[in-house]
Amino acid sequence: MRISTFLCSSQKFTRLTQMLDFYAGFNPSPLSIKQFMDFGQNACEKKSFIFLRKELPVRLANIMKEIALLPDNLLHTRSVSEVNNWYVKSFEEVLEYEKAEPTHDILQKFVQDLDLIRNRHSDVVQTMAQGVIEMKENEGGQVDAPIESSIQYFLDRLYMSRISIRMLINQHTLLFGLNPHSGGRHIGCLDPACDLSDVVRDAYENARFLCDQYYLTSPTLEIQQYSSIADDLFPIRTVYVPSHLYYMLFELFKNSMRAVVEHNQDHCDSLPPLKVSICRGKEDICVKISDQGGGIPRSQSDQLFKYMYSTAPQPSKSDLHTVPLAGYGYGLPISRLYARYFHGDIVLLSCEGFGTDAIIYLKALSDEANELLPIFNKTSSKFYRATVPTGDWSNQSSDMNARQLNATTPKRYNDLGTA
Ligand SMILES: Nc1ncnc2c1ncn2[C@@H]1O[C@H](COP(=O)(O)OP(=O)(O)OP(=O)(O)O)[C@@H](O)[C@H]1O
Ligand SMILES: [Mg+2]
Repeated sequence: MRISTFLCSSQKFTRLTQMLDFYAGFNPSPLSIKQFMDFGQNACEKKSFIFLRKELPVRLANIMKEIALLPDNLLHTRSVSEVNNWYVKSFEEVLEYEKAEPTHDILQKFVQDLDLIRNRHSDVVQTMAQGVIEMKENEGGQVDAPIESSIQYFLDRLYMSRISIRMLINQHTLLFGLNPHSGGRHIGCLDPACDLSDVVRDAYENARFLCDQYYLTSPTLEIQQYSSIADDLFPIRTVYVPSHLYYMLFELFKNSMRAVVEHNQDHCDSLPPLKVSICRGKEDICVKISDQGGGIPRSQSDQLFKYMYSTAPQPSKSDLHTVPLAGYGYGLPISRLYARYFHGDIVLLSCEGFGTDAIIYLKALSDEANELLPIFNKTSSKFYRATVPTGDWSNQSSDMNARQLNATTPKRYNDLGTA
């Protein structure tokens, strides 16, 4: 009995490895916002099913191959093993549809399984972050700079892959699930006429609520809109995923509010406003948040987009239900991934002593807004064979080391948002 169970699980493992190798051999197929829209407008459930039953295992396998390359001391933490198991389970579940006929029952079950998979992966960001903390604790709080940078490289790719998989799942379940969106202008989670100023106000209000709770005050908001397109209509609208834009704006507003209130503690009753400019050019749409929060020294600019870099105190463990204004150090790196996902970006420009401009760039044309996806290949594996970088500029290595040390404070990650 025991031998047969062992044989069974080892056969299962061999098949899993073979399937992983097979699907990781394909590159993911990036879609543009225009393709998501075109497909959604003439939605055909069978076509979507046939696309996803190959594309989901391809995207899962590509990132699972990279999970396997993580340093052992991270891979074998309880949290990262848990994340790994979620991926294995989801991969196996999607493979069940590999050769299935797309009958009515199968299509229905597919939607249900996609819901399960999405829910299973809800806590990936928090759990991975917990794994990094566990690894650091096991290593006595010190982690080598090369390992630190391969973890940064990996997390960017894992979270980007996750954003893309959730996008595919959300589109399918919203279009073909039990309560498909009907009547409204949305196509799945895309808004074909997303009013940017609406999303700005929404994110501002929710960040302000938190800011008022913490500091009993908050800066006001001023919005201006510009367009270089002749006869453009205002408010500026574009095709986008509003929840992604909201996520980025909410994180940037929280950062700006904290900086403004803390920098102007002596005159809280007349805080300088947050000025938002929404601009449409031929190629780019920019949303710029300008604050007078005292800015960021240039020596810290390399750290801003690192996971776990934060100058805020560690959020209190006493109340699990409050959302902190800052402290995890995940706000900027994850927001930038959302922007980059459709070939946009987030850039911070700061004047120390005065304030910061945070700019969200989006592609103005939906056929240029292609998904940016990690691809597993020999190039990606070399980033995990970390070597100590040798400085080839004067003073570089001591400066880099000092910065690495600054970035290792453990934090708690219960409330990291997901769009
Ligand atoms: N507008 C800003 N003005 C001044 N400092 C800023 C600004 N935006 C970001 N920072 C600095 O960058 C750090 C990292 O920001 P990030 O949003 O990634 O993490 P956080 O705000 O500390 O925590 P959380 O994950 O909860 O957002 C902040 O702790 C802060 O020191
Ligand atoms: Mg933040």
